[in-house]
Amino acid sequence: MSASLLKTEQLNVSVEGKHILYDVDMTIREGETHVLMGPNGAGKSTLGYTLMGGPRYHVDSGRILLEGRDITESPADQRARDGLFLSFQEPLEVPGLSLQDFLRSALEQRTGKRLRFTDFYKKLKAAMEVLHLDPSYSVRDLNVGFSGGEKKKIEILQLLLFQPKLAILDETDSGLDVDAVRLVSDGVRAYQKDHKGALLIITHSTRILESLHVDQTHVMVEGHMVADGDGSMVDEINENGYESYVERAIREGAVRS
Ligand SMILES: Nc1ncnc2c1ncn2[C@@H]1O[C@H](COP(=O)(O)OP(=O)(O)O)[C@@H](O)[C@H]1O
Ligand SMILES: [Mg+2]
Repeated sequence: MSASLLKTEQLNVSVEGKHILYDVDMTIREGETHVLMGPNGAGKSTLGYTLMGGPRYHVDSGRILLEGRDITESPADQRARDGLFLSFQEPLEVPGLSLQDFLRSALEQRTGKRLRFTDFYKKLKAAMEVLHLDPSYSVRDLNVGFSGGEKKKIEILQLLLFQPKLAILDETDSGLDVDAVRLVSDGVRAYQKDHKGALLIITHSTRILESLHVDQTHVMVEGHMVADGDGSMVDEINENGYESYVERAIREGAVRS
């Protein structure tokens, strides 16, 4: 079994004084793909932002370990350099900043190395081909006027370029049509296969998971991890919903009725 990449220990998190996450334990090993599911408002995005070091997310107790090192108090930019990546549910639009300038400087920041434009552009073009993105997008302003599907593809483009150790994808597939989901899924699979990168995929849908191998599924209800299982749990939940998990959590006293 490979070494633990990311581990949370009894993580309690509050946002603006409101307690959201309760005693969350999770271990993701190198190269593993984990899926996080749960009803709306369960705290899934909160966990993603907390792992990434979002400034509004306060760890009240517990720890986050990356490759055994305590990163609970590290700032977000340091975590990015350390190999964490979060794709946002709502990507940012930045007028005046071209996609290629953004990606090049973000990549240089992550690696701490200057990149020759020709070398960078070669990588960028290869990654854009995986996602069927026209090269003309690289000189357009970051996400400005991009469709929802195009914005999501730009997030996956970053994944292919940055090659983080762990990528957290927060509902990257929501609002996408079937073809866009397939391309996003192809990009994620390329990251999984070529780079052996680990993934935490927050999703309600099985479509993005169809061509991916899932090692573990987690279910969160009202800020509590209430169940863990293998990849087949995703199908089971899609058939039966969250009700049984919510009921069990109430029975066990983990959450309020
Ligand atoms: N900025 C915030 N201030 C106060 N409460 C918040 C904030 N962001 C999220 N929450 C609350 O945290 C809970 C979990 O939200 P979230 O992590 O977005 O859930 P999910 O991603 O599972 O739908 C919800 O009750 C939500 O209202
Ligand atoms: Mg969310």
